Amino acid sequence: MNVATSTMDYQTKLAKLYQEELLPALETYNSGQPEFPLYTPITYMMSLGGKRLRPLMVLAAADAYANECKLAIPAAMAVEVFHNFTLMHDDIMDEAPIRRGKTTVHEKWNANTAILSGDAMLVQAYEQLAACPPALLPQLFPLFNTTALEVCEGQQLDMDFEVRDDVHLDEYMEMIRLKTSVLLAAALKMGAILGGASEDSAEHLYRFGESMGIAFQLQDDYLDAFGDPEKFGKQVGGDILSDKKTYLWIRCLEKASKEDLSAIEGWIGERNAQSDKVSFFKSLYTKLKVDEEIQSTMEDHFSTAMNHLKAAQLPEEALNFFEAFARSLMVREN
Ligand code: IPE
Ligand code: IPE
Ligand code: MG
Ligand code: MG
Ligand code: MG
Repeated sequence: MNVATSTMDYQTKLAKLYQEELLPALETYNSGQPEFPLYTPITYMMSLGGKRLRPLMVLAAADAYANECKLAIPAAMAVEVFHNFTLMHDDIMDEAPIRRGKTTVHEKWNANTAILSGDAMLVQAYEQLAACPPALLPQLFPLFNTTALEVCEGQQLDMDFEVRDDVHLDEYMEMIRLKTSVLLAAALKMGAILGGASEDSAEHLYRFGESMGIAFQLQDDYLDAFGDPEKFGKQVGGDILSDKKTYLWIRCLEKASKEDLSAIEGWIGERNAQSDKVSFFKSLYTKLKVDEEIQSTMEDHFSTAMNHLKAAQLPEEALNFFEAFARSLMVREN
């Protein structure tokens, strides 16, 4: 997926702002402070790119309602800096060696560095948020705070689930709603608030983001097992190695035969023989067709997302943009 190209199809003004102001600001983030090592990993992380979906969602939502999105730049920055903070800490928690095709911060430096630079990023995200139009801060702050806490709650559940083998699909869905969906949803709602949308429209846009975010995390789980290592930018099989309770894992256990189950038991907690463990689970996922099932579950969430999008009283061009954009996320490869 090429975010830049899909943006160009939308309003030129939005595309221009995104490419000429937002992306350079992200790419050089904190680079003016090379004298203090606290900031070097932040610039490193931010300049590795990523898809930068969330700030695009903020800008596009503001533009859709106000036909103006420059005022949404600080909110877009706040959301992306916050997202990168969560990733820096997530990579420590997940013992991830690679992010966006490069060495993770805790591997390149060490865990303490990643903790501290991550903390600084959280503060910086709030600095950005405080630069939003003052009249809207009473709406933006509670939304951002609630979202940030929900992401932490989701991350806590994700870790708790690693050492459980009885995680139910409903618990998993709630965990991914918290760790992933609410931030996409909040990015859209922040943009809607900045663009002066009605409460009802802002809420529908939030729900669009929430369902799209669930489909997005399902695809993330799928790619973690079945992604192309050349394109994925993260370690393929990382979720399998850490016994993450993903959609694939949970449905696999539900569908497994007695023999499959005793073989699975032998692999739980296994950190050696990495490639054998990954191959074992991948072939079981394929055998039990949970790889196909995850795709149809994604489609269900995509259609819920579309219903909310249609109810969000967007101009046609914006509606088409968001729909195409959400569709492109369903087939993303990184
Ligand atoms: C990764 O988010 C974390 C998840 C919520 C799955 P992205 O896939 O948006 O990561 P980047 O920012 O594009 O690298
Ligand atoms: C990350 O979920 C969600 C957050 C960082 C809040 P994952 O752990 O699945 O994300 P990746 O796969 O490392 O990007
Ligand atoms: Mg991770
Ligand atoms: Mg994680
Ligand atoms: Mg993942």
